[in-house]
Amino acid sequence: MKFKEAVTYDDMLLVPQYSDIESRSEVDIGSFLNEVRYSLPIISSPMDTVSEVEMLVAMDEAGGLGVLHRYNTIDEQVRMVEEVFSRGVSNFAVAIGVSGDYLERAATLVDIGVNTFCLDVAHGHHVLMKNALTTLRKKFGRSITLIAGNVCTLEGVNDLADWGADAVRANIGGGSICSTRIVTGHGLPGLQTIFDCARTDRDVKIIADGGIKTSGDIVKALAAGADFVMCGSLLAGTTQSPGNLVVLPGEPPMKEYRGMASKDAQMSWRSRSSTPEGVASYIPYKGSVLDILGDLEGGIRSGLSYSGARSISQLQHKAQWSRQTSAGTVESGTHILTAQDGRRK
Ligand code: XMP
Repeated sequence: MKFKEAVTYDDMLLVPQYSDIESRSEVDIGSFLNEVRYSLPIISSPMDTVSEVEMLVAMDEAGGLGVLHRYNTIDEQVRMVEEVFSRGVSNFAVAIGVSGDYLERAATLVDIGVNTFCLDVAHGHHVLMKNALTTLRKKFGRSITLIAGNVCTLEGVNDLADWGADAVRANIGGGSICSTRIVTGHGLPGLQTIFDCARTDRDVKIIADGGIKTSGDIVKALAAGADFVMCGSLLAGTTQSPGNLVVLPGEPPMKEYRGMASKDAQMSWRSRSSTPEGVASYIPYKGSVLDILGDLEGGIRSGLSYSGARSISQLQHKAQWSRQTSAGTVESGTHILTAQDGRRK
């Protein structure tokens, strides 16, 4: 039996190279989706503990792209979209499904000025995705931008592109709150997904979605061929993520972060739950997402300069990879506490 060996973010490192970049400000980390240029290649996950009005406004301010989640009625989604427009923001996307009310939802949103949609399903290489993409393209032509997913294979990217997608979310089950791989036995490690999907010869953008823990992971995803990354946990637990602060005695303030296929989330949006493929959790409150995005931006710029690259395309061209041993992975993390047997003052 032949099987595929696949690597993920912690398995691989980029090898530093000669650089003539004297300042991080010389590095351009902008990325295009159709004619729109985003100065920060980060997209917020369409999840109800990540992306509502405040996150969309903050993502725009930081130069990235926010995607409003779809776990609401059409009226609720319209109200949020109108609030974002009134806040003066027009660069954002709105998530829809591929069945049920998706067409009515899209038409209603197009009527009020939305032009970027995210067809948001767990298994995107699917006949329902084919029908939805071809239907939306037939109805709205090229006047709208379509992000679709998720997939984890080259065939998946190519099919979604052929059916009408401008950008494809790549990764199945690799997110911090995902249990898809545990429940279904299916998926592919996240960085390998990007190596495979980026081999596409179609005119389509690749979004590395899920499992991004650090700015270093973002640099690896971009170097492997992604045009953007999509982040949930990195942006959750912030002032701009939906939900109240939970304060327990003696504990730091927390905010909920949950998979959209978790039992918790399913109960909230449809009052019943079938087999969960995600988990719900509380994560420490991190303050403003703008500070988080600022730190990530600095890390990405620095990352490109270590490869001597002034742009994402230069990084993809120049990237040299090494595979880490398990000891190398330990060495790559901060390990002062391990060395001291966990003792500290
Ligand atoms: P991170 O690692 O950034 O991952 O927190 C966010 C991504 O996870 C996906 N997602 C899910 N996947 N079950 C899954 O298997 C779920 O319940 C679930 N909810 C979100 C999604 O792609 C998101 O961007």
